[in-house]
Amino acid sequence: MRNRRAAAVQPRAETVRRRAGPLLQSQQRGRSPARLRAVSIPATYTVRRAGPADLAALVALEQASFSYDRMSPRQYRRHLASPGAAVLLAEDAGALLGSALLFFRRGSALARLYSLATAAAARGRGIGKALLQAAEAEARRRGAARLRLEVRRDNAAAVQLYEKHGYRRIAELAAYYDDGADAWRYEKSLIASPPP
Ligand SMILES: CC(C)(COP(=O)(O)OP(=O)(O)OC[C@H]1O[C@@H](n2cnc3c(N)ncnc32)[C@H](O)[C@@H]1OP(=O)(O)O)[C@@H](O)C(=O)NCCC(=O)NCCS
Repeated sequence: MRNRRAAAVQPRAETVRRRAGPLLQSQQRGRSPARLRAVSIPATYTVRRAGPADLAALVALEQASFSYDRMSPRQYRRHLASPGAAVLLAEDAGALLGSALLFFRRGSALARLYSLATAAAARGRGIGKALLQAAEAEARRRGAARLRLEVRRDNAAAVQLYEKHGYRRIAELAAYYDDGADAWRYEKSLIASPPP
């Protein structure tokens, strides 16, 4: 499969939802009042590994979040079952608020964050950040030393999110996406450096 990704659909996506134990729970407080007034979304959410029963909701979020290069239900089903992939999701009361897809290669210290999306109605509330942190934790748990991703140069929200969380730009990829858009490649070390 071609490596993507990250074209935000304008206007932004929407909502959707559910298997295993929670990785992390977050209380959302104190965000910007303007953002809080603009949407009516749950105050809490849980991040966990996705399972086969989540397929329909994940595909719906995928469709709503990306305008091209979308994963088909078949591809998503394969990733959900694959030992070389991990799908994480954020949910509240059965409603899917966001997802992240990671790839791993046997024997490689490099993990790839292939996809990250928050439902449009739930954006700006820390869910992208929580999923990114859960993705890093999952990559560490599986022995990865670095996490790599590609993002469209014009995806300001995602670029900001990654840079704010310690991702370093390591390459510019011209005409990387199907529509000719350029990408930036980012990477983050998952190994804590010793204090100076
Ligand atoms: C990129 C995306 C995942 C961010 O999700 P989110 O849940 O809204 O992000 P968060 O609320 O956790 O924000 C975390 C940080 O991201 C950055 N950010 C998020 N939205 C932003 C925006 N609209 N403009 C600028 N920075 C933004 C900020 O640094 C923010 O931290 P702050 O709130 O402390 O300033 C979301 O916009 C999305 O799903 N977009 C469509 C799909 C996509 O492009 N995915 C990314 C590439 S695969």
